[in-house]
Amino acid sequence: DSLGRGEFSHYMLKEMYEQPDIVLKEGTQTLDIPKELSKALHITLIGCGSAFYAAWGGKYYLEQLANRIVTLELASEFHYRNPVVQDGVTIAVSQSGETADTLKAIQYMEQHGQYTVGMVNVPHSSISRQVHYEILTKAGPEIGVASTKAFTAQLLCLLKISMNLMQDSVRKQKILKGLKQLPLDMQKIFFKVSQLQDIAQHLVHSKGIIFLGRGMSYPVALEGALKMSELSYIPGQGFAAGELKHGPLALVDACTPVVVLAPMDQFFEKTVSNIYEVCAREGKVFVITDNAGAEQLAGVPVQDIFVYPSPTTWELHPFLSVLTLQLIAYYTALHKGCSIDQPRNLAKAVTVE
Ligand code: G6P
Repeated sequence: DSLGRGEFSHYMLKEMYEQPDIVLKEGTQTLDIPKELSKALHITLIGCGSAFYAAWGGKYYLEQLANRIVTLELASEFHYRNPVVQDGVTIAVSQSGETADTLKAIQYMEQHGQYTVGMVNVPHSSISRQVHYEILTKAGPEIGVASTKAFTAQLLCLLKISMNLMQDSVRKQKILKGLKQLPLDMQKIFFKVSQLQDIAQHLVHSKGIIFLGRGMSYPVALEGALKMSELSYIPGQGFAAGELKHGPLALVDACTPVVVLAPMDQFFEKTVSNIYEVCAREGKVFVITDNAGAEQLAGVPVQDIFVYPSPTTWELHPFLSVLTLQLIAYYTALHKGCSIDQPRNLAKAVTVE
């Protein structure tokens, strides 16, 4: 119905535009976490689909900021393996709180003595009722089948948990300062949406699109590939940039666009060398980077560079790059005339295995 969408042509578009507000409202709010999680050295993150990729981002945060041992598990595979489980805490990430595989994984963990935390967007869900402790992502109802604002809210909650657990107060202050600036920087992406529409126009006739990222940009690249596949039905394949020479480079030709996340972080130089490798094979490269990265890329023979504002610290790049990838997927699907809010064959919540 048009009422719920307001001025927006799709729920997905509305939900993408809500993301800066979610960061504004929740970014600097303190998050209560249970003492079991504060004390845990070993944390398991679990989820399906986009929630799994958000959890993957959370792994980087918890390892690098909070110094925890983090295991990442795809819920849809996890419980079939009968894995050996030690003491620890499991955080299950799920927008709906109804995903059958995630629920099964939680039950398995509880049977094996783990303390469970459900990070859900829908309160009173099946996962809320199952877990020992619930963290609400507070993104508001998400109607579009392809997750956007829920992903961002999940990533934000995982960052905030990591900030709760981290020792380095100077670094924590730096991230907090960055979180205050982040909503404005996200807004600035919307001002440049016509460039993303042009990029989508280039992508719309391709048979497949490669997405590359390194470090935290890797799970974001995977999420971008998933968004592209589910919305536009153009197969998106995400790879770790460092894996390029181990296979994906064989896919590169003049017809296969390569979207590269190249934020100015500790991996920038290495990612630039991947860009050169793709260009040398006549691959059409679309770079997504920040101001600082773009300055360094002048003269590199890529098809296009989309530039978002440089955040104060590396932890915040994913919020800007994932929004960019969501919009590219959205406009590609729009150019193709796809059913954006309700992609074929997909459901918002998968309640069967
Ligand atoms: C479905 C949805 C995805 C979602 C995944 C996990 O496949 O279409 O958008 O990421 O389920 O759902 P959850 O509710 O557990 O986050």
